[in-house]
Amino acid sequence: MYTKKVKDHFMNPRNVGSIENADAQGEIGNPQCGDIMHIDIKVENGVIVDIKFQTFGCAAAIASSSMVTEIAKGKTLIEAEKLTNQMVADALGGLPPAKMHCSNLAADALHRAIQDYRRKHPEVE
Ligand code: FES
Repeated sequence: MYTKKVKDHFMNPRNVGSIENADAQGEIGNPQCGDIMHIDIKVENGVIVDIKFQTFGCAAAIASSSMVTEIAKGKTLIEAEKLTNQMVADALGGLPPAKMHCSNLAADALHRAIQDYRRKHPEVE
């Protein structure tokens, strides 16, 4: 079953929505279920100062999205690049094995947003 943290982040997701004039965006779909996660980031001096998500997916995907935004906010791009899907699942106190693939969306969508930022700003470390 889901941990208390998963339920909390599903019932009260943090950082939901989109950022007007976002510096970069990342999107990824889960081919197994068709769910989609979208992440916007705002970056200042190499630090993620704002991050928002929109996820069309299951409870585990929404909780993972919420958690990844909480972890990434305030981190440098370099720190955020090191975040793994497993770290997100661990921060939620674990996910049922059948739901682990849902957490894969979270870090992957974040990494895509960072890649998008780096494409636009190759000068930033
Ligand atoms: Fe699609 Fe969880 S079932 S992300």
